[in-house]
Amino acid sequence: MISENNRTLGHVVLFKDITQRRQSELALAHKAAELARSNAELEQFAFVASHDLQEPLRKIRAFGDRLKMKCETALSGDGTDYLDRMQNAAARMQTLINDLLTFSRVISRTEAFAPVDLNTVTREVLSDLEVRVEKSEAKVEVGELPVIQGDAMQMRQLMQNLIGNALKFHPPGAKPVVQIRSRTLDASPGVEPTCEITIQDNGIGFDEQYLEKIFAVFQRLHGRQEYEGTGVGLAVCRRITDRHKGSITAQSKPGAGATFVVTLPLAQKLT
Ligand SMILES: Nc1ncnc2c1ncn2[C@@H]1O[C@H](COP(=O)(O)OP(=O)(O)O)[C@@H](O)[C@H]1O
Ligand SMILES: [Mg+2]
Repeated sequence: MISENNRTLGHVVLFKDITQRRQSELALAHKAAELARSNAELEQFAFVASHDLQEPLRKIRAFGDRLKMKCETALSGDGTDYLDRMQNAAARMQTLINDLLTFSRVISRTEAFAPVDLNTVTREVLSDLEVRVEKSEAKVEVGELPVIQGDAMQMRQLMQNLIGNALKFHPPGAKPVVQIRSRTLDASPGVEPTCEITIQDNGIGFDEQYLEKIFAVFQRLHGRQEYEGTGVGLAVCRRITDRHKGSITAQSKPGAGATFVVTLPLAQKLT
């Protein structure tokens, strides 16, 4: 403290109790560690479940086939029907497990980032989907796409899932029109140059109140009788965009088509 004529009268010492702040910092760090551990456990579970469940399932299917082949005459009509249903359920489980394994591999089996030409990727994906495109008489328009730094295999999975969905979710008999476009987003200071890729269709669409749900594993909004699938595709897509420090979302209205919007940095920071 200083008096009016500049003489030091004494000192004021300020104490600030930081115990509480320190405690909340510690608690936060503890929570973060807990979360990391439970994520790692979940990751491990997804992998082990999908991997180790395959073997017993393979046996169920193999012996089911054998039962059908060798003992069919001994089975009644009902017996054959039950066996068929069991085999169908087992086949479905195999598909679910395979998809879960694909989901788990987005993190466990990765390739280093390298330049990926999304024009080439899309061309290849469309060639894989050729039969479906022809059968549904779909029209697919592809604009100029960028070259980005990424995992080529995962970029392919991403486009495959999104274009596959755009071709799939249509009223029976309707001709899908799918537009794939890209633009570079305005660079702002401190933000990596990013591209925005949109996959737009004219299909059945969905209610946006369920937007977050469709990116979760095994979540579907439409019946399996009408549209085959396991509900893993978009969860895989989100994992892939997360790993590339990008994002994925969608705009839609029931009956008015859907537009999926992916953003991806053009370059990746070395970590
Ligand atoms: N283009 C689309 N139009 C309408 N609904 C869609 C579209 N893409 C995805 N969906 C909805 O999101 C759900 C999850 O998609 P996805 O994870 O790819 O699973 P799947 O294709 O196996 O059903 C779909 O079952 C569907 O209900
Ligand atoms: Mg899908």
